[in-house]
Parts: sequence; C-alpha cells; structure tokens
Amino acid sequence: MNYPLYIFLIFGLSASSVFAVNTSTVDRLLQNYRQQGAHDFDGKAGEKLWHQSFKNPKTGKLHNCTSCHSKNLRKPGKHVRTGKHIDPLAPSVNAERLTDIRKVKKWLLRNCKWTLGRKCTAQEKGNILRYLQSQ
Ligand code: HEC
Repeated sequence: MNYPLYIFLIFGLSASSVFAVNTSTVDRLLQNYRQQGAHDFDGKAGEKLWHQSFKNPKTGKLHNCTSCHSKNLRKPGKHVRTGKHIDPLAPSVNAERLTDIRKVKKWLLRNCKWTLGRKCTAQEKGNILRYLQSQ
C-alpha cells in the first residue's frame, strides 16, 4: 500500500469513529427521552431555552445557562459563582463535548436545577441537546 493512502485511511477511520461516538451519545439520550414521551426535538426551542432567564425565588436573581457558559458557545465560559474557567460547550471546537453520556446527564440535571429551579423535562433536554449538537 502506498504511504499517502495509508495515512489517509488512518485519519479517515479515526475521524469517523470519533464522529460515531459523538452521534451515538446524543442519539442514545434522545432515544431515552422518547421513551419518556418526548418527541420531535427542536433545536430552535433549545436555543430559546438556552437564552431564557429564570428568576430564583429565594434571591430574586436571574439565572441563565449563559450565566456560566457565556453567550457564545464556541468561547470558554466562566462559572458565575466560583469564577472557574469552563471550556467551550460547542462540539465544533471541543470534540469531547456530548460524548460522555454520564457527564451529560449529570450536568444537565445539576444545571437545570440551578438555572430553572427544577429538573428539565425530557422534551427540554432533547431540544437543548439538538441545539448544542449543532454548535
Ligand atoms: C452555575 C454555572 C452553570 C450554569 C448556570 C450552567 N452550567 Fe452547564 N456546566 C457547568 C459546569 C461547571 C460544567 C462542567 C464542567 C465542564 O464540563 O467544563 C457544565 C457542563 C455542562 C454540560 C456537559 C457537556 C459535556 O458533554 O461535557 C452540559 C450539556 C451543560 N453544562 C448544559 C447546561 C445547560 C443546558 C444549562 C442551562 C439550563 C447550563 N449548563 C447552565 C456550569 C454551569
């Protein structure tokens, strides 16, 4: 086999396997949400929720997904309370995003509770994932 073709094959195969992992994590979660009765996941609705502000009943402060992740998903965020750096959420600039199912579940649970003051519904989570996936 000639050398360039060999390199091409290696790159091609590894790129497609990364992509496959990426798709299947979100797909598996969406499948999960469908089993809970959600359907027709809508990235636009996810985007709207992403930018929506929710008033915390105790402090009266407005909470928002962008409070920590910044308005531009391709840019790093900063934790609103601790000031800690948060890597960009957009899979287009951060290939690790939306690949680890346990991580996605854990943070959606935590972040929805903090931002909305309740758990997100399966529909809301699906919409958000569709939006994030497209970024
Ligand atoms: C109070 C700060 C904060 C807010 C507000 C917040 N997040 Fe996060 N989020 C984090 C931190 C911290 C992490 C974990 C660190 C990391 O992954 O870089 C994280 C991780 C995530 C992840 C994991 C992505 C992955 O695959 O690695 C998702 C998805 C996510 N957040 C979605 C949301 C959504 C949706 C909202 C709004 C409902 C939201 N976040 C609001 C702080 C926040």
